[in-house]
Amino acid sequence: MSQNDVPDTEAQTNAGGETRSDPDDSLVRTDVRATGSTGHGGSNETVVETRDLDVYYGDERAIDDVSMEIPEHQVTALIGPSGCGKSTFLRCVNRMNDLIDVARVEGTITLRGTDIYDSDVDPVALRRKVGMVFQKPNPFPKSIRDNVAYGLEVQGRDVTEDRIEESLRAAALWEEVKDQLDESGLALSGGQQQRLCIARAIAPDPEIVLMDEPTSALDPVAASKIEDLIDELVEDYTVVIVTHNMQQAARISDKTAVFLTGGELVEFDDTTTVFENPDDDRVEDYITGKFG
Ligand SMILES: Nc1ncnc2c1ncn2[C@@H]1O[C@H](COP(=O)(O)OP(=O)(O)OP(=O)(O)O)[C@@H](O)[C@H]1O
Ligand SMILES: [Mg+2]
Repeated sequence: MSQNDVPDTEAQTNAGGETRSDPDDSLVRTDVRATGSTGHGGSNETVVETRDLDVYYGDERAIDDVSMEIPEHQVTALIGPSGCGKSTFLRCVNRMNDLIDVARVEGTITLRGTDIYDSDVDPVALRRKVGMVFQKPNPFPKSIRDNVAYGLEVQGRDVTEDRIEESLRAAALWEEVKDQLDESGLALSGGQQQRLCIARAIAPDPEIVLMDEPTSALDPVAASKIEDLIDELVEDYTVVIVTHNMQQAARISDKTAVFLTGGELVEFDDTTTVFENPDDDRVEDYITGKFG
């Protein structure tokens, strides 16, 4: 168990409690616009790059000098034993660690070349580009429609029936809920709730969807639906997923990053290479279940 005491539902798109009134493609506050484009590029382009990333909670280091490049329109899996910093790493990418007082980030993380920790970057705008889905499905106690609408409203986007349908379709949930949009999101099954959370996360049309063990609270059938969905999502989004399930990582990811205790990134390569021919013996031991 980790100490993820971040208030994740509200936080995922709107940590500062503010509603963005002027949505556009820029990450930076509208009053301090920096240069730099964040448009989509060709495949294999790097979307997110970390350089010499360290994350501390007080004096404890949770991420140790991590440099990695996350390619667009691919699934990158983060694996490693409990407490090795996977969630911490993920939370850096949409600045949710800002919400943890004792957390301190050193090094750089860029999103399409823009340093996301720059003082003129608006975290709310960043979280529109970098959506997040958590281990435990966490729909709001609101209607299905309002759950998706929230993802739009919090970013100052127009809420239209079309956008709601589009998001629910993209999350492979529309057919199951189209006749009950006014019913509570909490009345859905766990797997449906998770897909609703995915719909909420993608409603603002992010570039990246971060998923922290999104299927570990689900039964195998529901989990498999989410895996199929991830396969589809990656055509439009870049997906970074934390999983403890080796088979899942092997099945759905293109790249795998292996973290080990102390927050060290010990291997980052094509998933087939990591699983079939890892460089580091510790990775082989971890993958084959000798520890972790
Ligand atoms: N809010 C926090 N305050 C202090 N320390 C924290 C906090 N969150 C995480 N940590 C510490 O940072 C380290 C990495 O935790 P993290 O939750 O990122 O690991 P993880 O790889 O996601 O683990 P798990 O697989 O159990 O979810 C751990 O030592 C953890 O105790
Ligand atoms: Mg975790």
